[in-house]
Amino acid sequence: MVDASYEFVVVSNRLPVDRIVDANGEVAWTQSPGGLVTALEPVMRQADGAWVGWAGAPDLELEPFEHDGIRIVPVPLSALDIERYYEGFSNDTLWPLYHDVIAQPSYHREWWERYVAVNRRFAEAAARVSGQGATVWVQDYQLQLVPRMLRELRPDLVIGFFNHIPFPNYGIYSQLPWRQQIVEGLLGADVVGFQRVADAGNFQRAVRRVLGYKTHSTSIEVPAIGEQPARHVIAKAFPISIDSASFEALAARPEVRERAAQIRHDLGDPATILLGVDRLDYTKGIRHRLKAFGELLAERRVAVEDVSLVQVASPSRERVAAYMQLRDEIELTVGRINGDYATITHPAITYLHHGYPREEMAALYLAADVMLVTALRDGMNLVAKEYVAARSDEDGVLVLSEFAGAADELKQALLVNPHDIEGLKDTVMAAIEMPRAERRRRMRALRRRVRENDVAHWSQLFLAELAGVGRS
Ligand code: G6P
Repeated sequence: MVDASYEFVVVSNRLPVDRIVDANGEVAWTQSPGGLVTALEPVMRQADGAWVGWAGAPDLELEPFEHDGIRIVPVPLSALDIERYYEGFSNDTLWPLYHDVIAQPSYHREWWERYVAVNRRFAEAAARVSGQGATVWVQDYQLQLVPRMLRELRPDLVIGFFNHIPFPNYGIYSQLPWRQQIVEGLLGADVVGFQRVADAGNFQRAVRRVLGYKTHSTSIEVPAIGEQPARHVIAKAFPISIDSASFEALAARPEVRERAAQIRHDLGDPATILLGVDRLDYTKGIRHRLKAFGELLAERRVAVEDVSLVQVASPSRERVAAYMQLRDEIELTVGRINGDYATITHPAITYLHHGYPREEMAALYLAADVMLVTALRDGMNLVAKEYVAARSDEDGVLVLSEFAGAADELKQALLVNPHDIEGLKDTVMAAIEMPRAERRRRMRALRRRVRENDVAHWSQLFLAELAGVGRS
């Protein structure tokens, strides 16, 4: 049993801890690498916090437990829940729809029904652990119905929601057969946060079109529904960030710097290392990046001895068909480019289908002369911010897609339209050839931005907005 006493409750699909089972069957929990935990840890400790989420494997019925001063409240998912709620509705309906239908979304009624049922399970778990008048912060597109369900169960709570991915324009959003239920679900929150101003605008328009409610600037008028009084809901942008100080400190460690030098050496000491780091996802524009690089090699604008591309593509959602197909296409392309241009001593592309610890990522960022972020659509893209945070040497060039949320802030990057392959090739060349003085000038400006708007700042802004609502 858990007592309903927590003052601050975070609800997210995944828990902030990973379950590790060793060879002897011993279970241990380690903090997952995401920035969200780091940002919320101080608030959690101060305010007697609990975190509600899924432990990442099927059919785990686990009692709540304490990890590093945070109460962890696991929500079980069966194999069928995972198939329909997580892989299905979350990642094969909402994910492609919200990323501007780069891949075709599938609409299945059984997936939707399971999404509703699982959202209810999360809402009930959050309602059970929340103390009177507690603040509950729900995270991301997997749980968009939770705010309303929670408000119905517990009208005393202050409820926030943050959408980590884009919110599409109405022309696209309106495809969703359950567009009304999702908008109503989100409006159960007091504050609905988005990555970009444009996302908040798209949501407000969806509210006007679907429900006919009035909006003024960042405020939405929700009329009285049944027992519930009329309310104002805030919908606005809070661009998320990373724990930049800790990333910078990590990248400054001597062993990380040594590892960066080793990586360059092992790649055959090329003059320029290009780097891509992504989950293997069709939103990331990995194919466009490979195409551009392949053409630069074919046209002899770069030589394999001088320029090497490292592509880290961490495995993701591997049972969803669109991801399987993407993997095949990318691996075929990498194989072709390497077959055509690599030599025994100089790979054209070093393709790594793995996830890596933070230390290795930091070393890769330090080794990379040019970081390629060519997403076709991305809520924010924290890799771009990590690269900047790692570069205390004020060197390195960030090539950044204008379709990533980060482009709203990181104006000193070389911004690109990844669909424009010629433009992308020219930008990669400009990055390779950029003089040191310009690299330093741009990187300094980028670093200032990332340092000032770190993830702690993000959560403070959001929670301050939410606290304001609670008082009024
Ligand atoms: C995106 C989403 C997160 C999600 C992550 C990894 O960043 O916004 O909510 O956790 O991808 O995806 P996964 O499906 O493995 O949780």
